[in-house]
Amino acid sequence: MGNTLDQSYVTRSAWKPDIFKGKVVFVTGGAGSICRVQTEAMVLLGANATIIGRNVAKTETTAKEIESLRPGAKVIGLGNVDVRDVNSLKKAVDHTVEQLGKIDYVIAGAAGNFLCDFNHLSSNAFKSVISIDLLGSFNTVKACFEQLRKNKGAIIFVSATLHYYGVPFQSHVGAAKAGIDALSNALAVEFGPLGIRSNCIAPGAIDGTEGMARLAPPSATPFVNKIPLQRMGTTEDIADNTVYLFSPAASYITGTISVVDGAWWHIGGVM
Ligand code: HXC
Repeated sequence: MGNTLDQSYVTRSAWKPDIFKGKVVFVTGGAGSICRVQTEAMVLLGANATIIGRNVAKTETTAKEIESLRPGAKVIGLGNVDVRDVNSLKKAVDHTVEQLGKIDYVIAGAAGNFLCDFNHLSSNAFKSVISIDLLGSFNTVKACFEQLRKNKGAIIFVSATLHYYGVPFQSHVGAAKAGIDALSNALAVEFGPLGIRSNCIAPGAIDGTEGMARLAPPSATPFVNKIPLQRMGTTEDIADNTVYLFSPAASYITGTISVVDGAWWHIGGVM
């Protein structure tokens, strides 16, 4: 997948170059297309990071590539960690604290998806996606909670818009993402008094991502003209939103779902 960031982001973006200096971000799904670029932006703007994945080689290589973006940056890649297993996440958190000192920000982005109609979707297939997306998001916060509490941290869940209306062949993902929104909203209220913020980012059609490769049929090419803003989203659009939500500029923002989709869902996500 393309569309990664380089050093020019620091001068091109609206953000101060050292806005996250001394901060640490913990990212599940960080070797995937969207969460990788979220991590890149945080690292380019001063943070250190741990990225979590199931594929060891991919996760470790991606971590090295992100680390090379900023001299002095530390980025740990921990493969063989499955978000369905809270204990493997707890070990990853312990390792991060040992190596990087703490965790300030959490991106719960690990997700699984495929197109499948209800008739062919097995109970186990439904459960797999719910377990990766929803239970995995819960487990991520569970494992990071003490760090979030100690450091008055912030969480971003990666959601979607497809549960705002009915999307065929996506009943499993729609149900999981609706649950993630509900989880985030509840945590925003529970965690508010602790100084922890919880928000979701709901990407629309983001160019060059695994999600689009899996979900958009080749015949969908002309659908760009149907998106009100007349273009597909970029991973940088998601990165910018991530930086905003973690930055002090969003210190009074919690319990929101930030839709980054060029108003696509308002027209029913038509392709
Ligand atoms: C129907 C399928 C299937 C498919 C798997 N299954 N793929 N059913 N159609 N294409 C079924 C299997 O047959 C099995 O059920 C069950 O799902 C579990 O499959 P496993 O392969 O054992 O599970 P696992 O190895 O854990 O893989 C999880 C996965 C896989 C979700 C199925 O696709 C995955 O790991 N994906 C991770 C990467 C990914 O999807 N990234 C995209 C994220 S994009 P049975 O009954 O046979 O046992 C994204 C965007 C969302 O999330 C927003 C969109 C707008």
